[in-house]
Amino acid sequence: MCGIIGFTGKSEAQNILLNGLASLEYRGYDSAGISYFKDTGKISIRKTVGKVKDLRAICDDENNSTCGIGHTRWATHGGVTNSNAHPHKVGNVSLIHNGIIENYHELAENYDLKETLISETDTEVAAALFNKLYDGNPEETIQNVVKLFNGSFAFCIMFKDHPGIIYAIRNVSPMVAAYCEEGSFIASDLTAFINYSKRYFIVPEYHIITMTTEGIILKDLEGNTVEPEYLEVNWDVAAAQKDGYPHFMIKEIHEQPEAITRTLSPRIKDSLPDFTEDSIPDEFFKNCSDITIVACGTAMYAGMVGKTLIQSMLQIPVTVSIASEFRYEEPVIHENSMVIVVSQSGETIDTLEALRLANQYTKKTLAIVNVKGSSIARESNYVLYTHAGPEIAVASTKAYTVQVASFYLLACKLGLVLNKIEEAYAKDFIQTLQKTPKNIAAVIEQADTVERLTKRMINAQNAFFIGRGLDYTLSMEGALKLKEISYIHAEAYAAGELKHGTIALISEGIPVIAVATQKHVYSKVISNIREVKARGAYVILLSKDKELTDSSICDVHITLPDTPDAFTVFNSVVIFQLIAYYASIGKGLNPDQPRNLAKSVTVE
Ligand code: M6R
Repeated sequence: MCGIIGFTGKSEAQNILLNGLASLEYRGYDSAGISYFKDTGKISIRKTVGKVKDLRAICDDENNSTCGIGHTRWATHGGVTNSNAHPHKVGNVSLIHNGIIENYHELAENYDLKETLISETDTEVAAALFNKLYDGNPEETIQNVVKLFNGSFAFCIMFKDHPGIIYAIRNVSPMVAAYCEEGSFIASDLTAFINYSKRYFIVPEYHIITMTTEGIILKDLEGNTVEPEYLEVNWDVAAAQKDGYPHFMIKEIHEQPEAITRTLSPRIKDSLPDFTEDSIPDEFFKNCSDITIVACGTAMYAGMVGKTLIQSMLQIPVTVSIASEFRYEEPVIHENSMVIVVSQSGETIDTLEALRLANQYTKKTLAIVNVKGSSIARESNYVLYTHAGPEIAVASTKAYTVQVASFYLLACKLGLVLNKIEEAYAKDFIQTLQKTPKNIAAVIEQADTVERLTKRMINAQNAFFIGRGLDYTLSMEGALKLKEISYIHAEAYAAGELKHGTIALISEGIPVIAVATQKHVYSKVISNIREVKARGAYVILLSKDKELTDSSICDVHITLPDTPDAFTVFNSVVIFQLIAYYASIGKGLNPDQPRNLAKSVTVE
């Protein structure tokens, strides 16, 4: 939610800020703005409703300032207007903010700030408070003011009488920083300045950052200097660019074979799962009585597949919880329960809070996370990093498949440690898993066919995804993908459940995407498909059956690679991703930046 960047150094700041904001735009794209020190010591602001390109159009070509901050917004408090856009400026202070100050009404009231406010935002209240309590010492002021805030925040602040310096502080909302040859950088995530530095550190919560041309000083709230812990990423700038593809989403769909290989390879030794490099001991899996998987959105749907797999393979009870619900429930977890939290960003606030709750009940917490060093990764007892590389499109694709692949590895390991499966079975399972990248690559080759058939769908108001067993759990992800980027209302149903109500919604021409890959329920699901076809649905069927020609079953048949039933999910989901992508572009939308959404959800 919201992207922030700050730079002070030797080069001109404006382009660095604008380019950084373009990389961060996936975090929010309602409006954008920058503020910077002018030669005169004054602070100037440019901001506008719209995208970073609209901001660029109103920026000053002559701007040679070397210190500034920039923001791309996902509106929380107040509509999408110029005055609500960041940066905000009140008196001595100009700042940008990611997060929510929950008590902003009381603060505005108690500190008599209302008169000065021109926007509807919590952020402007924060700026007004920093200004009101400013005593000429930025660090002291920050120390005092942040203690008054309830909520989450990442602030970059400039004080008019301290030109060339950016101060920053955060609670919950993510922020990373780096000092390199060019100068000092700070941003919501590394993609904003990966061009300049692959080394960075995660800004610890409630620590004050002081950025100058000479370096970055980090202090705790007592004023003690703290040494930043630098990390290094193993991907480069090309990974965060479109690389010739029209959209990040289609690029990321194509990256799945590699992403899965990167995620699996370091964890397979002699065809068996091995988490030595992740420092996850076998002890962690011992005595595991039950599993709760907690996540949001696509990550939660990856968990659904994990649940279906683990339950059927190992007969261990698995529950999947929506993180925003779990955190307000009394969880049924005890010391032998394993809690697996799943998150691409590692910053989703609901998932993070759910993890914090789970940590109170059990030591068996494990995070499946993509972003190195993220909050969820740091707070979980064990981490299994997926190696998808940066995922920029709002709609998750490669992050999902690597999360699912991680569940397959975990299921196998758990089965071995708990003596629920034989070594020979495990080897065969892992060898099949290793074929996944090749199968996905073959599915991606069907992109043109998918594009053609999707043309029939783009005017639909509604669509259904149906299947049984793994195909049903997988269908939930298909429906989410279609909804979020094409705005076609889509729902997933267990095929056998249709006749208990939903089939009433089936009418002439309505798209039904049916998946029939599971042998033990194949004939049942085919009967369910016939039922919707008989009622006029436009049926797209995904199955492994090469011989299927019966037009009474479906309008279009997509043949999937012939993989064992437990592994077809990887192939089917790629077709779902392509359907959603082509539906989105067929409707003239931008699949990378769907309306109302942002990539990383750091507000509740
Ligand atoms: O970063 P996370 O994996 O924790 O994000 C969870 C969801 O917000 C995310 O998967 C969301 O549902 C995606 N936009 C779906 O494509």
